[in-house]
Amino acid sequence: MSDVKISIRDNGPALITGSFTVEDADGNQFDTAGRETIALCRCGASENRPFCDGAHNRCGFESAERAGSDSE
Ligand code: FES
Repeated sequence: MSDVKISIRDNGPALITGSFTVEDADGNQFDTAGRETIALCRCGASENRPFCDGAHNRCGFESAERAGSDSE
């Protein structure tokens, strides 16, 4: 069983829970020390990317995928 859970929120971020690190394209780690859950932006409107800052509520982001749908 995985020790990391990724939960896709309707019209919002991806919540990452568990033991994880977040790296940029160069392999440098973002500071997530002490955090067991973070929210990664999916809408692209956050001013704190890759993290969600709530901007999805203001930009009209719509995304409500369901596992097992044919949208892959
Ligand atoms: S998903 Fe929240 S700011 Fe983009």
